[in-house]
Amino acid sequence: MPDPTLRPYRPADRAACLALFDSNMPSSFLPHERAEFIEWLDGLDGSSSEACEYSVVEDAGQAVACGGIWWGGDPQRPAGFAWGMVARDLQRRGYGTRLVLARLERLRELGVAEVHLDTTQHTAPYYARFGFLEMGRVPDGYGPGLDRVDMVAQLERSGA
Ligand SMILES: CC(C)(COP(=O)(O)OP(=O)(O)OC[C@H]1O[C@@H](n2cnc3c(N)ncnc32)[C@H](O)[C@@H]1OP(=O)(O)O)[C@@H](O)C(=O)NCCC(=O)NCCS
Repeated sequence: MPDPTLRPYRPADRAACLALFDSNMPSSFLPHERAEFIEWLDGLDGSSSEACEYSVVEDAGQAVACGGIWWGGDPQRPAGFAWGMVARDLQRRGYGTRLVLARLERLRELGVAEVHLDTTQHTAPYYARFGFLEMGRVPDGYGPGLDRVDMVAQLERSGA
């Protein structure tokens, strides 16, 4: 079987990425967040004011996961992860790890020292495995039943 590949998002991936989002709704994403995700995807054509990149993990020709990074904005929140997700029925097979490690590597290349993310109470323990520390938690912060957990990781410089 071919190994999964990680490649840059293309506009033709839009429907597949929305299907990945939908597969995780409402367990991890709430319906009102769908419009925000569409705005993110549609801003990847360079029209967004923020520097950002989005990647797709493809396995056997199928988009199985996607996740992004942004950087260079507010000095208090210099860079971070955005919209990371794996198809609901394909989780716990390593696709998420592939995405996390690639994104951390890319941010290191960009000279980023501190990576922010926000996620739900269900996924915070997952990111903690990669060195993210909880900085705050808002009960029902995304909507009923989904707390918002803010997390930060410090990156070591490449080759350090
Ligand atoms: C969170 C997510 C990206 C993880 O991706 P994944 O492909 O399922 O995870 P992996 O297979 O890489 O898991 C690696 C390890 O983390 C563990 N793990 C997976 N999900 C976990 C969780 N929610 N909490 C704690 N550990 C978790 C796995 O058991 C595995 O452990 P092992 O190496 O000891 O076997 C995926 O579950 C997902 O898309 N969730 C829904 C969307 C979401 O919440 N995204 C984040 C907010 S933007």
